[in-house]
Amino acid sequence: MIRGKFLTSLDDTSAVRAIRTAVFVEEQGYSLENEFDQYDEMAIYALTFDEEGAPAGTARLIMDEDNHATIGRVCVLKRCRGQGMGDLLMRMLLYRVVEMGLSEVYLGAQLHAVPFYQRYGLKPCGEIYLDEGQPHRRMRAALEEINLEGACHGHGQCAGCDGDCNACASTENN
Ligand code: COA
Repeated sequence: MIRGKFLTSLDDTSAVRAIRTAVFVEEQGYSLENEFDQYDEMAIYALTFDEEGAPAGTARLIMDEDNHATIGRVCVLKRCRGQGMGDLLMRMLLYRVVEMGLSEVYLGAQLHAVPFYQRYGLKPCGEIYLDEGQPHRRMRAALEEINLEGACHGHGQCAGCDGDCNACASTENN
């Protein structure tokens, strides 16, 4: 069974750093110097483990003084994708957002991952922008729009998808 736990910067975050380096730097080509920043000192991390108990996925949550949350650095080792680990990471951090009563959550999504985040009620906002040359879209959800269940299960009922997210579309085509 996959499982997850929360960490802060006071804990040993070497597994978080190793997974982010493997995915964002080595696999996707982002620079190592930009991968780790000042926000890592104030982040809450979700860290997930594979069936053998090895660290395999991570994401971080940052809160600001306006009671807003930003989720980022969501990644799962390539060999462990498609097993629900990304889903666990999002649910863990969004649960914390809800639990803490933060008013809104933001995320800077790589364009390919926008439909993944839509499952959780996040909606694209603003123009597409480039981060290290890669297209991204800012996404946002108000507290009441967060969908902790994630998947819409093909009924077009994701909190943010308006019935046209990939999950809904693929079921409609079946
Ligand atoms: N678009 C739409 N749906 C997606 C998706 C995508 N890019 N990636 C996964 N999903 C769906 C899955 O099909 C699954 O649906 P189901 O429950 O109906 O079967 C559900 O989301 C959960 O998928 P899961 O297995 O938990 O996702 P994952 O562990 O493969 O993690 C990422 C997803 C995006 C975190 C992973 O692909 C990854 O690490 N990519 C590289 C790093 C990256 O680009 N991160 C995004 C930075 S913004």
